[in-house]
Amino acid sequence: MTAIAKDIYWTGYIDWDLRNFHGYSTPSGSSYNAYLLVDEQPTLIDTVKSYGFEEMVSRIRAVIDPAKIRYIISNHTEMDHSGTIDKLLELCPQAVVVCSPKGKEGLQRHFKKQWNFKVVNSGDTLNIGARTLKFFLMPMVHWPDSMATYCEKDEILFPNDAFGQHYASPERFVDEIGTDIVLKEAEKYYANIVMPYGNQVLKALETLGTLPIKMICPSHGLIWREKADLVRIVSRYKKWAGYESDRRAVIVYDTMWHSTEKMARALFERLDRENIPVKLVDLKVSELSDAVTEVMRSRIVAVGSAILNNRVLPSMGGFLTYLKGLRPKNRYGMTFGSYGWSTVGFKELETSLQEAGLELIGPGTYIQYIPDQNDLDAFAEPVSSAKKLLDV
Ligand code: FEO
Repeated sequence: MTAIAKDIYWTGYIDWDLRNFHGYSTPSGSSYNAYLLVDEQPTLIDTVKSYGFEEMVSRIRAVIDPAKIRYIISNHTEMDHSGTIDKLLELCPQAVVVCSPKGKEGLQRHFKKQWNFKVVNSGDTLNIGARTLKFFLMPMVHWPDSMATYCEKDEILFPNDAFGQHYASPERFVDEIGTDIVLKEAEKYYANIVMPYGNQVLKALETLGTLPIKMICPSHGLIWREKADLVRIVSRYKKWAGYESDRRAVIVYDTMWHSTEKMARALFERLDRENIPVKLVDLKVSELSDAVTEVMRSRIVAVGSAILNNRVLPSMGGFLTYLKGLRPKNRYGMTFGSYGWSTVGFKELETSLQEAGLELIGPGTYIQYIPDQNDLDAFAEPVSSAKKLLDV
């Protein structure tokens, strides 16, 4: 049993074997965090994915009989957190399911059941004995139904997906693992799950920033409890939500007969020579979720592809689709690639970057068949423009 504060227990499920979370590569697994508050009205905040039910119940049983649970708070409908509410209610049929208005709609669409719901809105409170819980709706962080629960007595925030990381470990606290490791995972999590919702995140930070907070208990990964760590993660969230980026570049590409690869390497060398930190991401061997994390870090995003059947390569097509959904802002785009007899496919590179919200730096660099040194020197102009933009 893991007590994270007096009478508050972590009763989640560690998903050691998870390697893919709807397309997001999770080499370190994940956890689905449920928290049990033992009070006059025992309360469980969130549940776990369907296959973690037995483990969650066994953790609850180590503290109390699950039949005693009076409230199940569902901060978020997505099934990694609400997937076992139905089974749990069989053990505590008198329990009330507490959720946002959109949460109730979502849970009813998923489970097709009429449970005993208590619908809450921002600022509403729920007294469970010695503790009063306060709710804050956080639409789109990560779904329309998302909300945070705040425990006033212990000054603990349960924000569900926000501040989470996909990281499986026997430790429960960030400071037991190392802040830098967890921040890196939190960055990848933000890039892949939260990035499109910067404005909503800023609104949530404004509201939650008024609360005294000793601990942030997300629904995935490690708990933030050291003051310095709390400051760091909140400050990173402000940066990411504001679509800030670093003075660096990323080159994302795929190649057919190595010509686009030659171009990618020539562009890399030129950016490197200008002292612009730059990373090469070959889509043949890289995960999309890692590629977009690099995009979130970088102010310059170069994308290159060979042309196949008048289109970009399928790996690039997938990357561009993903990027358009994530909508990074305040970044500059460059395009390049090798073609055989038609450049028409490169339009897809350009329009996709624009649709994703990037501003193109001049025209793309497109070379027929095999690039020679003269062809590769064509990168001089876009790199010079990129440098000027980075150094303003
Ligand atoms: Fe961890 Fe949006 O679910």
